[in-house]
Amino acid sequence: SVPGTIYEAIGGQQAVFKLVDAFYTKVGSHPDLIPIFPDDLTETARKQKQFLTQFFGGPALYTEEHGHPMLRARHLPFPITPTRRDAWLDCMAAALEEANIEEPYRTAIFERLTMTANHMMNTPEDEK
Ligand code: HEM
Repeated sequence: SVPGTIYEAIGGQQAVFKLVDAFYTKVGSHPDLIPIFPDDLTETARKQKQFLTQFFGGPALYTEEHGHPMLRARHLPFPITPTRRDAWLDCMAAALEEANIEEPYRTAIFERLTMTANHMMNTPEDEK
C-alpha cells in the first residue's frame, strides 16, 4: 500500500484491526451506545475495518463493497445525540490507547474522527 499514509505509519491492517476490535468491545458495554447498536457487533466491526482502512489512506475496501460511504445518511436511522457523540469518541480515545497507536498519529486520527463524529449528530439531546 501507499507509503506516507496514516494507514502505513500506524502499521497497516494489523493496527486497524486491533483498533476496531478494541473500539467495539467498548461500544458493546457503553450504556449510552448499547440501545442503538446491534447485540452482535461482528458485521459492524467488519464494515468499520473496511471504512477506517480507506479513511486512513489505505485501500478503498469499504467503497469496493458498499459504494459511496454517505456516512451521515447511513446514520440517520439512529438517534445520535451530543451524549452519544461524546460516548463514541470516549470509546475511540480508549481504543487508540489500548491499540498503542503512537503520537503524532493518535492525535491526528482523533481530530479527524471528532470532525466526522460531529457531522453524524442528527438528534437534539431531549429527543432520544
Ligand atoms: C454504523 C453509531 C460515528 C462509521 C453505525 C451504526 C450505528 C452507529 C448505530 C449501525 C451499526 C449496525 O447496524 O451495524 C454511531 C454513533 C456515532 C457514530 C453513535 C457517534 C457520533 C461514526 C463515525 C464514523 C462511523 C465518526 C466514521 C469515522 C460507521 C460505519 C458504519 C457505522 C462505517 C457502517 C455503515 C454501514 O452499514 O455500511 N454507526 N456512529 N460512525 N458507522 Fe457509526
